[in-house]
This record gives sequence, C-alpha cells and structure tokens, in this order.
Amino acid sequence: MKNKVLISGSSGLIGSEVCRYFHDLGWEVHGIDNNQRAVFFGPQGDTRWNQKRLEATLPRFTHHELDIRNREGCLELLKTVRPAAIVHTAAQPSHDRAAAICFDDFDTNAVGTLNLLESTRRFAPESPFVHMSTNKVYGDAPNRIALKELATRWDYEDPAYEHGIAETFSIDQSKHSIFGASKVAADVMVQEYGRYFSLPTCCLRGGCLTGPDHSGVELHGFLSYLIKCNLEGKEYRLFGYKGKQVRDNIHAHDVARFIHEFIAAPRCGEVYNIGGGKGNSCSVLEAFKLAEQFSGTPQKYSYVDENRIGDHICYYSDLRKMRSHYPKWDISLTLPDIVSQIVQGWNARVK
Ligand SMILES: NC(=O)c1ccc[n+]([C@@H]2O[C@H](COP(=O)([O-])OP(=O)(O)OC[C@H]3O[C@@H](n4cnc5c(N)ncnc54)[C@H](O)[C@@H]3O)[C@@H](O)[C@H]2O)c1
Repeated sequence: MKNKVLISGSSGLIGSEVCRYFHDLGWEVHGIDNNQRAVFFGPQGDTRWNQKRLEATLPRFTHHELDIRNREGCLELLKTVRPAAIVHTAAQPSHDRAAAICFDDFDTNAVGTLNLLESTRRFAPESPFVHMSTNKVYGDAPNRIALKELATRWDYEDPAYEHGIAETFSIDQSKHSIFGASKVAADVMVQEYGRYFSLPTCCLRGGCLTGPDHSGVELHGFLSYLIKCNLEGKEYRLFGYKGKQVRDNIHAHDVARFIHEFIAAPRCGEVYNIGGGKGNSCSVLEAFKLAEQFSGTPQKYSYVDENRIGDHICYYSDLRKMRSHYPKWDISLTLPDIVSQIVQGWNARVK
C-alpha cells in the first residue's frame, strides 16, 4: 500500500500531471481512464495520446481502462490496488456541454465520485482522497459582487474581495449550470465522507487549471484553446462581457504540488479554492496579448454579444487558506511561464 497512488482521469490534464509528479517521487502509479473526453467533445478532446505517453515513459505506471460509473468495477479495483492515496480528477468538465448530456454529466460527476468514495471507505479508509472540484460550485453568485470596469478587465470594487473569492463564499441559491450542480453534489459528498466517516478527504475548487498537456476545446480549457486558435490562425469566439471577463490560471504542476502537500499532511473534509489567484489572473483580451507576445501571431477573434449562461464576469481565487494550511506551497509558475509552455506544447503536438 505504501507509495501507491490511484488517479482517476489519468489521461486528462490534471490526472496525467499528477501521475508524472508522483512517479518522479518514486511512487507506483495506477491510472483510471476510458477516454470519455473523446465521447464528451469528439476527436478534438481525445486523450489517448496522453495515456500512450504515460505508458511509454513511466515504468511504474499501470493503466486501468475503467469507467468510474461502473460501481462494481470501482469496488473491485480499490480492493485489488489498495492505494495509499486517491486523486480523483475524472469528470465531465464542461459547464456548457452538460445541459445536452445531463445523464452522462451527473452519472460521471456525482455518481462516479460516490463510487470512488465508497470504494475507498471500504478498502482504503485511511488513504487521503483528493477530489478536483470547481469554482462553478459557487454558481453565478460571484457576479453579484460590485465590480469596476478597467481598460482591459473587470475587477472587484468591493474591498472584501481584494484577495479574491474565499471558501466561505455561499454555494447556495445561484445558477450553477447543470455541470456546476453535479459538481456541487460531488463536492458535498466528498466533504461528508470526511465529516461523517472521518476519511481524510478534500475538495479543490479549481479556477482555470491549465498547462501544455491540456487538450483545450472551445467548451473547455479557455487558455489552451485560445492559444491553439492563435497558432492555427483560427478565429476565437469571445462571448459577452466585452472580453474583459477575468480568469485565474494555475499550472497543473502547481496543482500536483498542492495535492502532494495535502497527501503528506491530510485533514478531514477540507475545501480549498485553487487557482492562479490575483497574480495569475487575466481577462480574455489580456490573454490575446500574451498569446501574441509568445507566438508572434496576431489573434483573430469575433465577438458574440451574449455571454455564456452563468459565466463568471470576474473570478479569482483567494489562496490564503491554502498558504496558511500548507506554508511550503505557493504558486511557482507565473502566467507568462504558463503561456510560453502552452505555446511550446501545441507547437510540438500540432506541427
Ligand atoms: N481544467 C480546468 O480548467 C478545471 C477547472 C476547474 C475544475 N476542474 C476539474 O478538475 C478535474 C480535471 O479536469 P481536467 O481539465 O484535467 O479534465 P480532462 O477532461 O482533461 O480530464 C478528465 C479525464 O477523465 C476522463 N474521464 C471522464 N469521464 C470518465 C469516466 N466516466 N470514467 C473514466 N474516466 C473518465 C477523461 O477521458 C479525461 O481523460 C475535473 O474534475 C474538472 O471538473 C478543471
């Protein structure tokens, strides 16, 4: 059981990064993925390339072709592997895609999470369980915060949010999207397994998690997709808010570093907002400029007046709770570092 980690969604952005991170530390790594992302998003979302890369480069990596909706399969796998830590990143991750595939969305995000939690409780109850949640659990409530309009971005007017959105922000009585609601169900269940059964669980409510291994598509992974459009000379469609909507971006490597800190010193039923924070935030207009700076190619874009349903106007995570619980952790990769790596990543894959 020692130094054995089980990672769901191992072929995805966060899952694959966490696989490599723990493998580099000498751990035995078990990944679960069934390339469901290609079902959700079509061939553009295919993550087999990443699975093959993990299998080719990590000798202590084992791939398990399992759908987390398969309850018996999850129970059986946990019983066989009995990992020392579980990192759950498999999901239907798109806010906009969920409404059209609501059964798949809920079965994966909510029921799949329960399958893994209960399998963990039965066969590895002392092992830390890290769940990737999302800032969409706050629904569109952040849009009620008083804002100020700056030249290229929106920002909080209310000084209470000077450091961003904290974990105490209400998840109740707002519009979440179907995706946000299925993630709320998972988030609350992960907290409950911590509080009710005393399992060492935590929810990481992500802002924009990204990096060179992101298979960004229009409906998920804005920075990765925006840079792909830039490199291919393809038009990026901007949806509402004058293009000044703000996102906080964190490199998957910094997410993996935090997961490691939590696994080394776990707590029960914790919640953290994990994103790039104010320092790594940018508006979409600002992201165009950054992409142009690194690629040398002007960004083509069109503007659609209507914003995406429930889309945040300004969101950046307050990172103070993460820093206070785990003082050795902080952001290590800046926004320009991230953009430069994504440009290199797409150049290596696309060309
Ligand atoms: N990337 C972001 O900006 C972001 C932001 C906030 C939260 N999150 C959360 O972080 C987690 C990881 O996101 P990501 O960007 O790495 O997503 P991703 O789509 O890149 O990876 C998810 C992986 O899970 C797999 N998967 C999906 N359904 C499955 C199922 N039923 N059984 C087995 N495997 C399945 C997919 O094939 C994919 O490889 C998700 O929970 C997501 O909601 C991501």
